[in-house]
Amino acid sequence: MPGVKFLGLAALAASASAQISESKIADVPGLSFRIAIPETQAAPFDVYLSIVAPKTTGWASIAWGGKMIGNPLTIGWANGDKATVSSRWAKSRTAPAAYAGASYTVLPSTTSNSTHWQLDVLCSGCSQWEGGKLDPNSAANFAWAKNTKGPTNTALNTSSISYHDSHGQFTHDLKLAKIPQSAFDALVGGGGAPATSAAAPPSSTAAGGQSTSPRLAPPLGVAVLALTTVLLTGSVRRRI
Ligand code: HEM
Ligand SMILES: *[C@@H]1O[C@H](CO)[C@@H](O)[C@H](O)[C@H]1NC(C)=O
Ligand SMILES: *[C@@H]1O[C@H](CO)[C@@H](O)[C@H](O)[C@H]1NC(C)=O
Repeated sequence: MPGVKFLGLAALAASASAQISESKIADVPGLSFRIAIPETQAAPFDVYLSIVAPKTTGWASIAWGGKMIGNPLTIGWANGDKATVSSRWAKSRTAPAAYAGASYTVLPSTTSNSTHWQLDVLCSGCSQWEGGKLDPNSAANFAWAKNTKGPTNTALNTSSISYHDSHGQFTHDLKLAKIPQSAFDALVGGGGAPATSAAAPPSSTAAGGQSTSPRLAPPLGVAVLALTTVLLTGSVRRRI
């Protein structure tokens, strides 16, 4: 099956250059936001988002325009051994309502264990909204918020959340978040990135420093991955 083998090698080659940029929130040790976008010059574009949070984080959220009001809010929380994503929008400083302008695909790499939860999503509609958009060529201001207390019904994306116990802003350079389109497709089609290691680089600013994860994204669907593992040599297999 030379065709399949070629596909596997091509995807591996694409992933080798894919590094996912990360912003760590210094105020909340263990909370980080990883963002990847495809090579693009203007919004709208799809966004890969990975939120990793300590289990003590009941919910955590990113505001794509850097403020609570008038921009898409992505909220995540643990749900069993997975995590739930909720799309919201706030018109005032009260509980944000459901927002239909963004849609999400929860990637299979989403996980929750005894210490952390990790929500990995593909978002369509997070890069542009009524009143704003992201510039893929520059550093953008994002806001974050979280509460130790999570929603009561963790399976339901419309669950009500409680007021944050902390919030802040961070800068994330979208130029550094760019990965080749083929690597982006592999990332969101292939199930997302693996859990980050506990020993990530330290943050460099008060609000949370951005770094680029040396981790490679698993580029392949499970079936192709299995095939590739069979077809490739041991030295390549160790890089998966
Ligand atoms: C029940 C849900 C929520 C309520 C009742 C609420 C309420 C408030 C209130 C009263 C303030 C001003 C006082 C303060 O700074 O603490 C505020 C500020 C703020 N909230 Fe929320 N909030 C909620 C959810 C969220 C979510 C999901 C985010 C997502 C990131 C968020 C982000 C922010 C930010 C960044 C600020 C700082 C000022 C601003 O950017 O507008 N909030 N919120
Ligand atoms: C909840 O999930 C459904 C199905 O994926 C989706 O249509 C809806 O927009 C989501 N609602 C929120 C608030 O995220
Ligand atoms: C728990 O999940 C976090 C986030 O995905 C990961 O960094 C950590 O290694 C996991 N821990 C275990 C014991 O699997």
